[in-house]
Order: sequence, then C-alpha cells, then structure tokens
Amino acid sequence: MTTISADAAATVARCLSARRPSPATMTIFGAGGDLTKRLIMPALYNLVRADRLPDEFAIIGFDHNDQTTDAWRQNLTKTMHTFARAGKGEAIDEQAWSWLVGRMQYMRGDFNQPETFTQLGKLLADQQKRQNGTANVLFYLAVADRFFGPVIEQLGRAGLTRQSDGAWRRVIVEKPFGHDFASAEALNAQILKVLSEDQIYRIDHFLGKETVQNILVLRFANGIFEPLWNRDHVDHVQITAAETVGVEARGRFYEQTGALRDMVPNHLFQLLAMIAMEPPISFDADAVRAKKTELFQALHPISPDDAVRGQYGAGVVLGQKVQGYRQEPNVAQDSTTETYVALKLGIDNWRWAGVPFYLRTGKHLSARTTEIAVQFRQAPYALFRDTPVERLPANILTLRIQPDEGLSLSFSAKRPGPEIEIDGVDMDFAYRDYFAPLASVGYETLIYDCLIGDATLFQRADTVEAAWCAVQGLLDAWARTPATDFPNYAAGSAGPEAADRLLARDKRAWLPIRADHTHGKPSA
Ligand code: BG6
Repeated sequence: MTTISADAAATVARCLSARRPSPATMTIFGAGGDLTKRLIMPALYNLVRADRLPDEFAIIGFDHNDQTTDAWRQNLTKTMHTFARAGKGEAIDEQAWSWLVGRMQYMRGDFNQPETFTQLGKLLADQQKRQNGTANVLFYLAVADRFFGPVIEQLGRAGLTRQSDGAWRRVIVEKPFGHDFASAEALNAQILKVLSEDQIYRIDHFLGKETVQNILVLRFANGIFEPLWNRDHVDHVQITAAETVGVEARGRFYEQTGALRDMVPNHLFQLLAMIAMEPPISFDADAVRAKKTELFQALHPISPDDAVRGQYGAGVVLGQKVQGYRQEPNVAQDSTTETYVALKLGIDNWRWAGVPFYLRTGKHLSARTTEIAVQFRQAPYALFRDTPVERLPANILTLRIQPDEGLSLSFSAKRPGPEIEIDGVDMDFAYRDYFAPLASVGYETLIYDCLIGDATLFQRADTVEAAWCAVQGLLDAWARTPATDFPNYAAGSAGPEAADRLLARDKRAWLPIRADHTHGKPSA
C-alpha cells in the first residue's frame, strides 16, 4: 500500500484549504423533491463531514408545497437516515447534520409567478446581511426539465443572476438537458439569454463517480498507456452500463424517453469521451471540454444497421420474477419504447479511424455493472506451436466503474508444466484494497466543484449539442420505423440476440455481463 509523506500530506492540505469555497447561499428549486432528499442533502451532509463547506453557508429550499422551515427540516432529517450512506448502517453524525439544518430555510413559491422571485431576492438580500455581505449564490434546479428555461428566465428578470463586485451567481441544471438536438439547442439559446456560459453548470451525474474521473488520471498521469491508446494497438472498445433495475415507477417519463435518450448521449458518451478524447493541453475546464466536444463531433453518423434496440419481457432478475416492460405502471400495452440499446460507433480521426466502439446499456439485465473494456490487438504471429494466434487470450484492460471499482488487465501466461500451454490470467487492482472508501452519494464533487467555480465536470453548451447531434439520425430513424419484435429479451438475460449478432458480424463477442470482475473468455 502506498503511503504519502508528511510533506506531501501538508501540500495536499494546503491545496485543499486554498480551494475552500467562498461564503455562499445555495437555493434549491425542488426542495421537496426526490433529488433533494436522495442526493443533494446527503451530498451536502458528506461535504460538512469532510469539512468542505464554508462557515458562512446557507440553504434556501424553494418549492410549491406549503410547509414551514421546521417541517422541511424534520422531513429531511427523517430521510437523511435512509439516504446518507455514511458508511452503511452507521448512525447520522448529529453534529454535522445540525450544522446543516441550522442553515436551512424554506420558502414556498410558484415558479411561474414573478412576485415569488422578488420575494426570493429579498430573502437573499437578508441572508447577505446576515453573512457579512456574502452575495455568492448557487441556484440548483432540482426540478422537472420543463421548468429549467422558465425558472432561469424569472431569475434573470428579478435581477438575481447579475454578478457584481466579485460576487458570483451560478446555476446547476440537472439532466435531461433537452430530449433531442433541437430542444437542447433551444434550451441553450433560452438560458444563454440570461446567463453567461461560465455561470451554467449542466450536470451529468456519471461525472460525479470517482472512477469516471479517474479515467483521465489513468490515461494522462501514467506513461505506459498512452503510447498504446490508438488504432495501431487497440482492436476495439466495449462500454457497458447494465442495470438490474427495471423502469420502476418512472413509466410515464421513460415511455417518452427510452434507453437511447436516457443513457447514450449523456452517460455513455461521457465514458466514451474520457476513454477516447485527445489529451487536453491542461485540466482547465475549457481545455477538457473542448476535447470532449471535438470527439463527439468526430463520431461517424450512426447507421441503423449498427444499432440494436430491445425491450424486456417478463423474466427472472437476481432470483426474483419480474414482469415485462409493457406490464409496468404507466406503460402502454403495445409500447415500442426501447429499454436496451447497443451501438457500434466509429470515430473519424487519426487516432481511432477503423476502431469500433461498441456501447450497450439496458434495464433488467442479468447483473449491474458499468465498465469499459479496451481490447488490444492480438500478437502478430503464432510463436507457439499448437496455439494459433486467434486462440491466444486477448489482452483486455477493463476499467470497472461500478460496482467493485477498479481495473484489471488480462494477458497470457504459461501454465506451469513441461509443455508450453498458454492460459489467460488477470492482474487486478481494486480501489478498496488501496483507499479507504469515502462516504459519497456521487454528488459531493459536483456541488463542491460548482462552489469553487470549477466547471471541468460539467457539460458545456456545445458539448451537449454535439452529443445530441451524434444520435439524432438514429433517433429519427427509430421514430420513423417503430420496432415490431418487442419484447425481444427476457428480463434477467444479457439483452437481445441481435446485439450478439452485431458483434459476431465483426467476428467479435461481447464480454459477459457480470458483477464480479474476472472476465475469463468472451461469451461465444
Ligand atoms: C439516470 C437514468 O440518469 O441514470 C436512469 O435516467 C438510470 O434511467 C441512471 O437508471 C443510472 O445511474 P447510476 O448512477 O445508477 O448508474
């Protein structure tokens, strides 16, 4: 296990304290909603415990429900016990939670009423007086996407987004950012009338995952990978985000969305960008985001022949019988919404031309796992008698995003004995073996980064638009020709057979979908 010296520890401490957020007030729109109780509050609580919030910090919870500050605090105190994974089963740290609760104030209002925003302005001004003049405000839009534009417009009209005397005003916008290219472009245009790009923090929660952030460190802080990271050495890449959950209670939303919109231009593309983008000239937000945008712009238009859609029927997931998608609440009995998608993508640039990137994601699959597998080319010729090159196990570098975060490299080794017999083995690194787990719900870094003004992990307008643009042709093609073979995979399986054919066509195979990480051989 690696330890850091006292000097290094002091340097880290210095850097962190230098990056302590300045005093601020956070205003949460949707204070009574699910996101607030499941993720935002637990993330703030974890930030308090990690001593990452400024002393002068306040929260204004804003929603349309009539409730008092006391009632809001009490409700959240109840839900905190469920959602703050302060080390599973661990009791809440009462001191940290009361620190936060004491700074929380509730305000009822209607997102469509201008008076509400005037009133919010007064509240913020009072807060500013109480906090020795702190005028920094983070507005968090934890509301349904139809409110993003209207709320920002109201904030603008009330003068609440104006930055003056060094004070900042920032807005966090949740997913989904548009439902296609045109709506994303229109939403950007609408909010950019009020805010400048550097005030907007568009969230993709996959970027809050430690292991996703670590991809860039793996690639650019180590000398050994980058020389191999190109078409000369990489055969293909597989990106998988498999879920065991079904659509749950989200039928109404999901019917309009489907797996392609829900997961691909956002979460899966973020993984794709991390793995395939060119090295940025620095880790400044704009340098990183420019490289991501370039990558999305280099994506070859996706042909429907390179895409597979699926919908789950009844089946057994993790030992439990589950119903088909069409039987879920608020789902049409003849729904043609896809709950699974697999794609073959090509990147038209010098590094990746000709290297396929296979992406797949689906609900109610056999295991929950998100991972990226970079499969390297085979050795050029068979040096070993009786072991043809195509039978040598492939070298695969697997980045496990969740669960069981880590990395493994599979390669060939000689089986002990007088004969030269070759077998595939794994070299494995698991985060948990080296680092103590941090209490995290995945939003801590995102909120903290917004407070310190680091937008690296957030989406820029052009990045979001380039991502939608890359899938727009396929969205249109699928809308023109609804699927006729749904349901086409059983819940609890690895997805539709057509997805296997997509790779078999190229003489390749998906790696098995498994929650544990030893891959062994591809599923033939
Ligand atoms: C959300 C999607 O953005 O991401 C969900 O809307 C999906 O459908 C979820 O289940 C996956 O996120 P995670 O962090 O659970 O892998």
